[in-house]
Amino acid sequence: MINIALPKGRLGEKAYAIFEEAGFECPSIHEESRKLIFENEEKGVRYFWVKPSDVVIYVERGAADIGIAGKDIILEYSPDIYELLDLGMGKCRMAVAAKKDFCDRRDRTLRVATKFPNIARDYYNKQSREIDIIKLNGSIELAPILDLSDVIVDIVETGKTLYENDLEPKEDIVQISARLVANKVSHKFKNERINEICAGLDRILTERKSK
Ligand code: PRP
Repeated sequence: MINIALPKGRLGEKAYAIFEEAGFECPSIHEESRKLIFENEEKGVRYFWVKPSDVVIYVERGAADIGIAGKDIILEYSPDIYELLDLGMGKCRMAVAAKKDFCDRRDRTLRVATKFPNIARDYYNKQSREIDIIKLNGSIELAPILDLSDVIVDIVETGKTLYENDLEPKEDIVQISARLVANKVSHKFKNERINEICAGLDRILTERKSK
């Protein structure tokens, strides 16, 4: 049995559709219920829905053999796992944003509000920039508006949230997309099955691209 951690939400559902198309379906997953685990014994797959930022924890500790995680989460937590495939979905970017009229003064410590303190720290360390990280858990866009921070480091997908809050992207940090990840021990001992799934997903993605 291969245990697969999927991120709850739209990205997870889109990712599951690829598993299904590749022949690793689990029909009970479509039934309306609050169940979190779904199994197809015949196909040897067991799926479970977890909070998107928790996928890498399940995979790193081996509770899941493989999973679908955003590159943002992988960069932030640096889990000891393998990244096998870029699914090319859930595309967005990590960016620095601020009020339109924000004028950076490099002689001052920059106050950075973010859900991604490690990504932000890495980015500014490389510029030898002194920063003060303000770790928030959501609605990051509020921070510069209320003068809690000078800038934010956050996910930008359409840019709508920034725009509607009178902020604008100032610098791009990194492109983000969903990745197939694997536990290192599982990758060794369930290699054939994991490779089979990875190749199946890759095939569907290639077919979709050529359509
Ligand atoms: C994410 C991100 C931005 C928004 C960007 O928020 O933190 O707020 O999406 O998307 P957009 O560029 O398409 O507007 P999320 O929905 O995860 O909520 P939260 O961070 O406020 O919890």
